[in-house]
Amino acid sequence: MKHLAEQPIGIFDSGIGGLTVANAIRHALPHESIIYFGDTIHLPYGDKSADAIRYYSLKICKFLMEQQCKMIVIACNTASSAAYDVLLDFFEGKVLFVNVVDPLVQSVVNGGYKNVGVIATKATINSSIYKNKIKNYNQRIKVNQIATPLLAPMIEEGFYSGNISASVIDSYLSHPELENIDALLLACTHYPLIKPEINQFYGGKVDILDSTDVVANSVHEMLFRENLLRSNNDVAEHFYVSDYTDSFEQTAKNFYGEHIKLEAKHIW
Ligand code: DGL
Repeated sequence: MKHLAEQPIGIFDSGIGGLTVANAIRHALPHESIIYFGDTIHLPYGDKSADAIRYYSLKICKFLMEQQCKMIVIACNTASSAAYDVLLDFFEGKVLFVNVVDPLVQSVVNGGYKNVGVIATKATINSSIYKNKIKNYNQRIKVNQIATPLLAPMIEEGFYSGNISASVIDSYLSHPELENIDALLLACTHYPLIKPEINQFYGGKVDILDSTDVVANSVHEMLFRENLLRSNNDVAEHFYVSDYTDSFEQTAKNFYGEHIKLEAKHIW
């Protein structure tokens, strides 16, 4: 299939956390049109089986393909871990894919870190995707991972920058597994919202890496390589969710940096 630069970029996540990635993409590529899909009806993905996550991801990508997307960004670490290979196989040659794991792994490898911590959903941690990919590049990098399943729902509910989030974050980051790390990977696209609190916990002594700007750079590089960068100014943005509530719409602006209109879309 021939892609046209005019076609939109599709972006999806289990919920509205992937808007942190969408926000980085629109800043890096202001001429691109975006179609976002948040699978709020199935949130959180982190507690689901790999098969369920694959099934949801396939269905969402079919929808994004119907919208003529030239590229699909899997703006969810959990879906990237469970479904990226399946999606590549299933849609082979039909659309470009970018996942959020590989760019973050690359920043660890390029950053020269020796002892990194990974926090993510249960499904991402159980897949050991970060550990395996980082070790593939360099066996000597120590990778310590812990599942932090309360964080995504807590953030999605708007609980951050307060006492509740501070105590949840403190108790997770005090885990012995994360002692003496030189970098912490925020391996969930919801977590950039608590980056300031995590920085505060470490007092600036640990580098905190997330998958926003690095993913936007990968998107840029791939579109440039494929000669698919758009140059028009008349960009369109659509934000679909599989389950709409006013509270999702209110929280969405914290992830995207401005108020957006969420549209309910039933694809199941
Ligand atoms: N934002 C998703 C991620 O990056 C996870 C949230 C969830 O559990 O649904 O892994």
